[in-house]
Amino acid sequence: MNREKPHLGTVQETLLIPLYARAVENRKEQALLRDTRAEEIVASIDYDFGRFDELPSLTGSLLRTRLFDRWVSEFLSAHPGGTVVEIGTGLNTRYERVDNGSARWFELDLPDVIELRGKFFTDSPRRTMIAASVTEDTWAAEVASHSSGPYLFVAEAVLPYLHEPEVRQVFALLADRFSGSLLALDTAGPGFFDTQEQHDALSKVEARMNWYCPDPAHLADWHPGTEVVASHTLTSLPGPLLAELPLAYQQMVSALTEQRLPQAEGYRLSLLSLP
Ligand SMILES: C[S@@+](CC[C@H](N)C(=O)[O-])C[C@H]1O[C@@H](n2cnc3c(N)ncnc32)[C@H](O)[C@@H]1O
Repeated sequence: MNREKPHLGTVQETLLIPLYARAVENRKEQALLRDTRAEEIVASIDYDFGRFDELPSLTGSLLRTRLFDRWVSEFLSAHPGGTVVEIGTGLNTRYERVDNGSARWFELDLPDVIELRGKFFTDSPRRTMIAASVTEDTWAAEVASHSSGPYLFVAEAVLPYLHEPEVRQVFALLADRFSGSLLALDTAGPGFFDTQEQHDALSKVEARMNWYCPDPAHLADWHPGTEVVASHTLTSLPGPLLAELPLAYQQMVSALTEQRLPQAEGYRLSLLSLP
């Protein structure tokens, strides 16, 4: 088989970490999630994925994905014809996992990622890839002109790689263009940020995080009226989600909860409602 050699920039390469986590998980009998597509994609990409084998943070990335999938499913239950915008979509397969047959989806990432994504996914009347930086407002115009609300923006493992002025720019763009929308994001606390050189997966690639946020509640100060709808650490996931996980994972999460590792405690997954 001719495998695809990815030509990705530094930050773009990080998409291969959660992709690999989902692919490896799919082979397990008791899995956190199923993702056959990820397994097929990994098999057809020419990259040394072995560097990520057995890394504990792969499980962290899967737990995060489970929570983000849950938020998208809840949004689509409440708004079956709503619009989901994946910011920094990478080779994520959320559409394959949680689409409801009627929602509108946009999958946004930098041009080299969308070029690679285009080899594995195709647009459809309800699903559109957009090649742009999230900091540009061209993509927002395209989304706004081809969809109607309500909107859920999903930025999974993306914003910490931007610099704070860029993150503020993204917030301003969303609040300005898509008033009343929801935004799911993750934030690194200072402890997590300061130890990224030792982070098991990040230390295997060149990209580094550039933004940390000590408390997602502070994000509400950027645009008055912003509300934190939910905020979790990987060790304080919603009870119903935890109860759905295979037993071994439930036990692993409770063991981690007892350790109260400062780095893990500072990494938060939050759902915001924008003014
Ligand atoms: C760790 S990956 C996460 C990918 C995907 N969200 C997932 O969970 O599988 C980070 C992604 O953010 C994208 N990204 C980084 N900066 C971006 C920007 N300025 N605009 C759009 N996407 C960006 C990268 O190209 C990469 O695909």
